[in-house]
Amino acid sequence: MRVTAIVPAAGSGSRMGGAEPKQYLRLAGVPLLSRTLLALTASGCVDHLVLVVPAGQEPRCRAEILVPYGIAAERVVPGGADRQASVGAGLAAAPADSDLILVHDGARPFVTGALIRQALAAAAEAGGAVVAVPVTDTIKRADETGTIRETPARAGLWAAQTPQAFQARLFREAHQRAQADGFRSTDDSALVERLGCPIRLVPGSRDNLKVTTVLDLILAEALLRAAAGGG
Ligand code: CTP
Ligand code: MG
Repeated sequence: MRVTAIVPAAGSGSRMGGAEPKQYLRLAGVPLLSRTLLALTASGCVDHLVLVVPAGQEPRCRAEILVPYGIAAERVVPGGADRQASVGAGLAAAPADSDLILVHDGARPFVTGALIRQALAAAAEAGGAVVAVPVTDTIKRADETGTIRETPARAGLWAAQTPQAFQARLFREAHQRAQADGFRSTDDSALVERLGCPIRLVPGSRDNLKVTTVLDLILAEALLRAAAGGG
């Protein structure tokens, strides 16, 4: 099975604020995005790596993110206006011989080899797989006036993370169909679900956080300290 990892890292990090995109921020000295890519390559499961970065930043990413850490990415391609467009750009650059596509957010540096392997195995068997964790807050659906319309039972609700893995043929079809139908989502699996394909849920870990806000950055630093034995 040839596995291609697509890493969308073309966002602007608006919720983080700050002068530059969060992928360049250093966590204990190493750029966030380098950490994510090193975790992926260390899994030993990835045959091809396609990195998607903000248009025009390909040289900077090679110089700051890839080269200093000896990370080999087959392709570094410009992303699009939303995450789905960026993953689509990565998919267009994926080698034709890919059997499985693994999508993993550039902003999730704590992914483990075990999670990657479980996602790939489930996708190979079922068609697609999503790493997710049970929600801990009760979820409300509200309308545009701020009035609550629905409170779904918490049992059975999961927060989707990445990695997400899909059989390549299925994922390409899902992107084409979403494009044709004008369907947009921040979640890769949502595109495949609407084809009616069953997707396997892989229980993940809250450690696999997406660095989105300054609070996440503080949490990420604390996780790294704990892993280094510093408490
Ligand atoms: N992403 C992308 N292309 C986009 C938007 C997002 O490749 N047009 C990537 C981000 O770089 C990130 C991942 O998708 O690795 C998850 O997105 P998110 O955490 O929302 O990152 P940003 O979009 O950069 O942050 P924000 O939404 O706060 O602006
Ligand atoms: Mg975003």
